[in-house]
Amino acid sequence: MVSVAIMGHGVVGSGVAEIITTHKNKLFSSVGEEIYIKKILDLREFPDSPLADRFTKNFDDIIDDLEIRIVVEVMGGTNPAYDYVKRCLLAGKSVVTSNKELVAAHGAELLKIAKENNANFLFEASVGGGIPIIRPMNQCLVANIVNEIAGILNGTTNFILTKMITEGMNFDDALKLAQDLGFAERNPEADIEGHDACRKICILASLAFGKHVYPQWVHTEGITKITLEDVKYAESNKCVIKLIGKVKRLPDKKIDIIVAPMLIPKTSQLANIDNEFNGIMVRGDCTGDVVFYGKGAGKLPTASAVVADVVDCVKHLKTRKYLFWADGTGENILPYQKSVTAVYIRAKADDADKAYSEAESVFGTIKRLTRAGAENGEFAFVTDEMPYKQIEEKISNLESKGVKVLSQIRMGNL
Ligand code: HSE
Repeated sequence: MVSVAIMGHGVVGSGVAEIITTHKNKLFSSVGEEIYIKKILDLREFPDSPLADRFTKNFDDIIDDLEIRIVVEVMGGTNPAYDYVKRCLLAGKSVVTSNKELVAAHGAELLKIAKENNANFLFEASVGGGIPIIRPMNQCLVANIVNEIAGILNGTTNFILTKMITEGMNFDDALKLAQDLGFAERNPEADIEGHDACRKICILASLAFGKHVYPQWVHTEGITKITLEDVKYAESNKCVIKLIGKVKRLPDKKIDIIVAPMLIPKTSQLANIDNEFNGIMVRGDCTGDVVFYGKGAGKLPTASAVVADVVDCVKHLKTRKYLFWADGTGENILPYQKSVTAVYIRAKADDADKAYSEAESVFGTIKRLTRAGAENGEFAFVTDEMPYKQIEEKISNLESKGVKVLSQIRMGNL
């Protein structure tokens, strides 16, 4: 019997307890011994839980218990998760977490502590919910040089955009529904402003390129400015709008990393990934494109990835699995203004045709888009590719000619 503790009994934590309980025999046949939940840490009361006798409010009941060899951290946030996880690893306990904020902020340090204490620190559920991505990248794709990773990494925003595109639902109603379904973060700003997707692409970039990428170094835009008008212009250009996290290896060993909404061609493998589903494309030099698809949020999908890591820890109680990256300095990150991209622009002027000619003289070759029901004076176009700094300068130039730019969204060349 292997004793584990679970810190946190929210959406994911209760799912972990449920799977370990309901899949007891299945898990036994995988590891050859029982996985026993000895303690559950939560400040709330759960008198009706079948595991009510295992709850504690005191972290010492876990850290001081030598029988507990594996600790699951599913509290979310970094305080007190960082302190608790660090202390567990220092005590030689293996830790499994779904906490992307923790891994993105402290991954390099916690991996180092795990290594020094011959413990495992696993976080499959931190990216892509129920989709296997960390382990495939660390094991199955390890022979590849990864040239690019691009993904729909946030279920809440994908759910909102899907509802806007397919049902014309307004943003607030779609967000409320995502919250009710348990996809959204406690503070949904982390979803809609792109921070959650940023943490996830940082984790993947750190793993792929071997140096920690901290979220504050990554240019991040959310979806709050996307309108139904933009959705319609995208449609007219045979595209859909998705929140994309992307990192690309450049020839000078720098990486080009960003989180932003993008217009994706409908022919892209990422275009038909809808609702709370996530999709992650990994471009390896040997494999070519490999795409991972599945439920990126929700109780049981995420808990399933956590429990798989627990099983891996049980199988590696005496040995450490190799999963490591070094700390980073940020020197390898291309400033986002230097990143080359084409952009969709929606604008308004007194005379749309005259303003479109101005846009041509400012941007050079552009492609005009149209939509049914456009207001007088509205026009939209797609630029050629150029460094983003030039796009910003040209937008300022255009605005100085009396044109109001209403939207600017990158074209995702995926
Ligand atoms: N809020 C996250 C999402 C949960 O919507 O994808 C899973 O990380």
